[in-house]
Parts: sequence; C-alpha cells; structure tokens
Amino acid sequence: MSSSASLHSGATPALIAPLAAPLPLAPRDAFPLLAADPALRYLDSAATAQKPRAVLDALRHYYETANANPHRGAYRLSVAATDAYHDARARVARFVGLRDADCLLFVRGTTEAMNLVAGSWGQAHVGPGDEVVVTRMDHHATFVTWQQLAHARGAAFRIAELTPDGRVDLDHLASLLGPRTKVVAFPHVSNALGTVNPVREIAALVRERSDAIVVVDGAQGVPHLPVEFDRLGADFYAFSGHKVGGPMGSGALLGRRALLEAMPPWQFGGDMIAFVGDEVTTWNALPHKFEAGTPNVGDAVGLAAACDFLAGLGMDAVIAHERALVAAAMERLGAIEGVRVHGPAADQRSGVVSFSMADVHPHDLATILDERGVCIRAGHHCAQPLMRSLGVPATARASFWVYSDAADVEALAEGLESARRLFAA
Ligand code: ALA
Repeated sequence: MSSSASLHSGATPALIAPLAAPLPLAPRDAFPLLAADPALRYLDSAATAQKPRAVLDALRHYYETANANPHRGAYRLSVAATDAYHDARARVARFVGLRDADCLLFVRGTTEAMNLVAGSWGQAHVGPGDEVVVTRMDHHATFVTWQQLAHARGAAFRIAELTPDGRVDLDHLASLLGPRTKVVAFPHVSNALGTVNPVREIAALVRERSDAIVVVDGAQGVPHLPVEFDRLGADFYAFSGHKVGGPMGSGALLGRRALLEAMPPWQFGGDMIAFVGDEVTTWNALPHKFEAGTPNVGDAVGLAAACDFLAGLGMDAVIAHERALVAAAMERLGAIEGVRVHGPAADQRSGVVSFSMADVHPHDLATILDERGVCIRAGHHCAQPLMRSLGVPATARASFWVYSDAADVEALAEGLESARRLFAA
C-alpha cells in the first residue's frame, strides 16, 4: 500500500463546514501497526480491528511465561496454563455480562459458533415441517449456516425483510413466527449497514409468539456496544475475537446453561470426555464438553486482554465516539455529488457507513482510496442477500473504531471527491 504525502493537504470545497468529529478515543500509539504509519487511514475495522499493544504484550507474556498444554499436566507450568485459560474465560464472560462463565465456550469465531449451535442444537431439534427464521441483513456466517441446517432437516427457511432505511421490519418478522418456528437468528449489528437491532425487543417478540431459540450474531455487537448477555433475553450469542482487537481465530459462544447441558457434543476428542469405555463414552462438564482437543489458550488470553482494554475505555464511550464519527461522515459524504449512503440514521448505527457512488464501482473507489493510504472494504461484505435487496452487487464500506478520528473522515471524503473528479473527466 502506498500512502500519499498530500493526504491531508487536499483542498476541501469551501461550502463544506469543518468537521466537529472527535479525536481518537484510544491513541493511535496504543496500536503498533497504526503507530508505525501515521499516514495510514484504516477504515476497515468492521472486517478486522487493529490490535492494541496490550493484546500483543499479553500474547507474548503468556507464551514466554506460561505456555504448556492445560488440563493435562500435573507440573506447575501446565497448571499455570490452565489457570491462564480459566482466568481468560472469567474476564471475557465478565466483559459481556455473563455471570455463569462456564457457559462461555471458546471457539474460532462467530462462524464456528453459529455452526456449533446449528450442528448441535439444530440437528437435535429442527425437523421436517419446522421453520427457521433469519433476516435479510444476516451475513453469511448466520444466513448460510441456518439455510443449510433448514435444508438438511427438511425445515422451511424464512427471511425477515427490512424497512427501506435498513432496519429489521419487526411486523414482517412477527408475521413469520408461530408454533413451528424453532430458531430465530439475527445480527446484533449489521456488518454491512451498521444498523443496531433491538435485541431485547426482538427476543421478547419471539418468546411471545413461539418456542424458538433466539440466536444472536454479535460479531459487530461486542466490539462497539455494551453487551450484557444475561439481560438480553437471547439463548445464544456469538462473537469473534479479532473484531474486538483480539487475535484472529479466537471468539466465543455464550449460551444458556439449560440448553448447553442438554445439547449433544459437536466435536469429539480429548478434553470433552469424562469416561471413555470400549463402547460408551460420557461427556465432560461445561464448558469442556464443547471444547474438544487442546484449547487455544494463548488466543483466549489475548482475547481477554482485548476485553480488558475495551472495558478500560468504556463501551458507552466507544459507541458514542463511533456515532459522532458516523454522523460527521454521513454529513460529509452526503454532500458529495453522486454519493448515496445506505442504512439508517447515525443514532441507530455502530461505526459503519456503507455507500455507493453513481457510475463508479466500489472496487474502483477502494483502489483510488488505497493510493491515498485509506483502507475501506468494497464488495458484498459477506451479505449477498442484503446486497440484492439494496439493488446493488456491492457497496463501499468505511468502518470506524476506537482509534478513528476526524482526519479519517476527512481523508475518506477527500478521496471520494478525487474519485468523483476522475470519473467526471
Ligand atoms: N464479516 C466481515 C466484514 O464485515 C468479514 O467485513
């Protein structure tokens, strides 16, 4: 990636008022990758977040001082690894408001969590004639997983549509619910639009009209909003570590104890067993029943450090910061000729702005912006069903996080103005 020396020196059209968007909530210096390149404008945090130094330090510290295979050794180092793993689970559970930490399963991310719920609970409880409901804004981790489970089990697959401004149409969702509904899955926050869904309201609606389980894809929730699982009314809630500043390949599934205890294991192997007979095997207690094989202790420790880092900033402050940036970006981008911003008002979003520019493909926009050191995502955002409803094959998406600031918004807008001029020529 090349970055332009004139990143902030491009002329801003006189009619556009200066931005009032904030300074970073967490200094760029706290993120080594950003600190190493002051000109870099990283606006793809919804895809993956940059890692705080605290996370990198925690990973290094674990591997330098406590690395061993947990749950297996009687020697002190293995006990240290076991303690680090349990301590990480307790800290992550606390961060997401789950009191019963054994109901937090470490997984590789949201996709794996969703596959676990579908592969275990879904296989055991969904059958012919049942109904599985998702929303038009689900990304593929949720949409495809439940679509395939429904097909495999002979169940109907239903999609709750959206309002014109990109929120779940709750009347339509309500009309899909009934005695045969077994699963209702939806995102806490849309990855492509940033729409924040009213989880408690949706969960209450589902309970009122069906006995379905409520499965929330929190991949874009936990990094941006305060989450208190015990008060959400959901049965399962999944999120990915790499989007909260933790390691790639880490993540968690939170579930209600009664459901997790009744569910069959999903993967088999070491650690998840209690007794292995020649014919019969019994299962370990939670959380181990769902964590077959050597656990990923290092990344659990890194994820816990990311949660501590965010807790230190305060999640109310994180979402307020993102909304200020989104409001500024929507105003600034909305004033650029040919730009259409998708989705709801700024106060109903996390830090995501998806947009299109007339006559310019999002991939071209991303390439032009990259030449200026501005990283955005262009494409279908793993949400092809949503793109179809927007009537576009792809959008451009800028997404903000704790290190984003007004200069990011300005660099994005200047890049888009430059693209507009290029394509108008
Ligand atoms: N689901 C991720 C995104 O939104 C990859 O970019």
